[in-house]
Amino acid sequence: MARTTLTRTVLAAVAATSLFALGACSSDAGNEPAGGGETAAADDGVITLGFSQVGAESGWRAANTKSIQDTLTADNGFDLKFSDAQQKQENQIQAIRTYITQGVDVIAFSPVVETGWDAVLQEAKTAGIPVILTDRAVDSSDDTLYESFIGSDFVEEGKRVGEWVVDQYDGEGYKAVELQGTTGAAPAIDRKEGFEAAIKGSDIDMIDSQTGNFTRAEGKTVMEGFLNKYDDIDLVFAHNDDMALGAIEAIEAAGKVPGKDIKIVSIDGVKDGMQALADGKINYIVECNPLLGPDLADIAKKVIAGDEVEKRIVTQDGAFDQAGAKEALPSREY
Ligand code: AHR
Repeated sequence: MARTTLTRTVLAAVAATSLFALGACSSDAGNEPAGGGETAAADDGVITLGFSQVGAESGWRAANTKSIQDTLTADNGFDLKFSDAQQKQENQIQAIRTYITQGVDVIAFSPVVETGWDAVLQEAKTAGIPVILTDRAVDSSDDTLYESFIGSDFVEEGKRVGEWVVDQYDGEGYKAVELQGTTGAAPAIDRKEGFEAAIKGSDIDMIDSQTGNFTRAEGKTVMEGFLNKYDDIDLVFAHNDDMALGAIEAIEAAGKVPGKDIKIVSIDGVKDGMQALADGKINYIVECNPLLGPDLADIAKKVIAGDEVEKRIVTQDGAFDQAGAKEALPSREY
């Protein structure tokens, strides 16, 4: 084993506890942490992994959390300590520091925003605790601060949506609005970049763009604002399905027909989004696969075993139109 701080404890039940300040929620095996500088040093093959999740902002996030909790189980050799940062970077930094103090074997997290991680990642490195990034990247010039980054190519996702839009609607003089994800988050930055690159040179005109923070409620509010400001919107590009679903509510409340009067394109492919696509209220979805638990478990085991791991693991994503959604829905996992 790369580290000798494996705990003797085995996950018996997931119990919600308040390990961290700042309102972050956490759960672990229900055991006393090895914190306070004292670690239970037993090389019994159990990997204690501290995971700091972004929050519970979307259907995608719920599926991602479930995948991690369902995979990193005691049966699979893990003692998972899980905390929910409620979309706040300071909560994630605090959670990571707590995991360092506890002397976990591996830290994994999905960074709420891209920047501002170097100091805490350096602390983990100094403590000899390997870090694995899932879902979202950090913007750091030092890639020795983490072992591996598992997740989708968000620029590609935005580009694929934009290419479909150009293929379907170029020449119509469409006016588009954008519901951006969380400001500073990798998927918001990258999806915007990919979409803009794809529509460049077309006659699709992006007339406004605001953050809806990846939530249904904020997506609805921002869309209401757009509808009050402009009466000629033809297309909504939502950075995730939840914001698209919020936009549908706002469009219907304004007496217009989503998917017809105003076209909607989105990213994720969660069940609610796919149902709206099948119903004709969303026009196209590029998938973002949230089932990262198995890859995380695999990489964590390799890192602990001292095996070489890939620095970047890109998740494969599909794409769906209405017919594709109808076909996929009956067996959709999330
Ligand atoms: O980082 C992945 C994004 O975060 C998903 O597309 C979105 O739904 C989530 O909140």
